[in-house]
Amino acid sequence: MNISIAIDGPSGAGKSTLARSMAQKLGYLYVDTGAIYRTIGYHAFASHIDPRDEAAVAASLPALQVELAYGEDGLQHMLLNGRDVTKEIRLPEISMYASAVSAHPSVRAYLLEMQRELARTHNVIMDGRDIGTVVLPDAEVKVFLTASPEARARRRMLELEQRGTPEPFEKVLREIRERDWNDSHRAAAPLRQAEDAVLLDTTELDFQESEAALLEIVRRRTGR
Ligand code: DC
Repeated sequence: MNISIAIDGPSGAGKSTLARSMAQKLGYLYVDTGAIYRTIGYHAFASHIDPRDEAAVAASLPALQVELAYGEDGLQHMLLNGRDVTKEIRLPEISMYASAVSAHPSVRAYLLEMQRELARTHNVIMDGRDIGTVVLPDAEVKVFLTASPEARARRRMLELEQRGTPEPFEKVLREIRERDWNDSHRAAAPLRQAEDAVLLDTTELDFQESEAALLEIVRRRTGR
């Protein structure tokens, strides 16, 4: 039977960096579900669809082909109607589009089976907002990864700088707070800690310390 590790938490908590590195160590498939929502958000952006207009977004879904592909680099690429949009979905303006479209139950329902199928067919580390609560409620390991908004804003700033799209701290912090609020106050699958998830707060931890703490949680839960 395949093992699933679910990692949920707010944006900028370090989920993707930690999950990717853990997946490599354990030989699991890493699934970044935020990238899937970003792909739908990017489609709304590129097609001039108001991402808050559920009817318009839902009407666009049947014609969409959203696929995950794993390149030779081992990284998850997102394909939208056959086109690789991995870079485009990381543009700063797409974050809010992703957050807006992800609030719609029709979008969540559309993506649910795709995520579950990946977990049925692979050992996965899947990160997102509702993996432990909705997508994989029976996951063997559930972690709720968080950090203070300020620590997350500082990390996001570094990431944006490295990507060549720097933004001021105040703006990044404001957007983090706004997205936290959106993601945790929506009616459909809001961001929250599953009752059986282990809380890992990385505010005071660097990458190595966070990784060691995560590995320890996984070992305790899976015996691996
Ligand atoms: O993890 P991220 O920042 O790339 O996610 C982009 C948006 O997608 C985020 O604002 C909330 C949404 N999302 C979600 O609703 N459920 C998930 N499982 C993953 C992401």
